[in-house]
Amino acid sequence: MTHVIITGGSSGIGLALARIYAERGARLSLLARSLPALEAARLELARRHGETSVHIESADASDEDQALAAIRKCEAAFGPCDILITSAGIVEPGRFETQTSAAFRQQIETNLFGSVNAVRAVYAAMKERRSGKIMLVSSGAGLIGIYGYAAYCASKFALHGFADALRSEAKPHGVTISVCFPPDTETPQFARELEHRPLEATVIMGRVAPWPSSAVALRIVRAIDKGQFEVFFGWTLWALGRFGATVKPALNWWFDRGIRRMIPRR
Ligand SMILES: NC(=O)c1ccc[n+]([C@@H]2O[C@H](COP(=O)([O-])OP(=O)(O)OC[C@H]3O[C@@H](n4cnc5c(N)ncnc54)[C@H](OP(=O)(O)O)[C@@H]3O)[C@@H](O)[C@H]2O)c1
Repeated sequence: MTHVIITGGSSGIGLALARIYAERGARLSLLARSLPALEAARLELARRHGETSVHIESADASDEDQALAAIRKCEAAFGPCDILITSAGIVEPGRFETQTSAAFRQQIETNLFGSVNAVRAVYAAMKERRSGKIMLVSSGAGLIGIYGYAAYCASKFALHGFADALRSEAKPHGVTISVCFPPDTETPQFARELEHRPLEATVIMGRVAPWPSSAVALRIVRAIDKGQFEVFFGWTLWALGRFGATVKPALNWWFDRGIRRMIPRR
């Protein structure tokens, strides 16, 4: 039976992914910090899918020792990890000069190192077995810089670079690395983020409706099935991902124009 480990599996996109794999009869390990949220997720999955095998581990993914120990326990319960999805992530919008160094660092530690730590916990064994799939959850904000999202963008761009390099190391050894760039998605994180999103970001991003987390999760799972490296959502993010160097200057010009109109000249 396939063992799927999902960091951030207690909420949002991670939980939507867990629902799909539970439906498929996979063994599921969910990792997040809040134990009550993990227990609620396990209960929900058991209620919806009957005798689902769900293991939960409370750990901070950004802490290497905690992440390694938690994933060891998941593997002790359900065997080697076949699929790892790193969905654990946080976002705290705010203009660079107003954001504390601690808030900036926490986003990098969680979004980048939280993923790296989880990958480190499973990668060597996958390589040895010559099988395994890893999906890193980046963001549309990992394809273009967004006003008020310097820390988040830095963490999500970095994930893309990590995935790109690791892909070429892993491929000869039968391990598939993928990275996805979700758009705005209806999740608890998105609801919290909107309360703090600077007006400039709202203006440049327009009023595009967020995707349901179930649709994002389904696209991610299909990409994992196919071993697709990069996963885009919607034509704008696809164009940015495929033709970023060409598309970005025009988009940045458009964004800058919108922002200039909001900021009175001094
Ligand atoms: N929603 C969007 O619009 C959107 C768009 C693009 C990309 N994304 C990315 O998609 C991923 C999932 O986001 P979401 O919207 O589904 O958020 P969410 O509903 O807030 O879920 C985030 C999950 O990550 C866990 N988590 C956060 N920090 C953690 C840590 N240090 N260690 C372990 N677990 C941690 C949370 O549980 P605990 O808090 O209990 O730890 C929760 O299970 C994130 O990487 C996010 O950046 C989201």
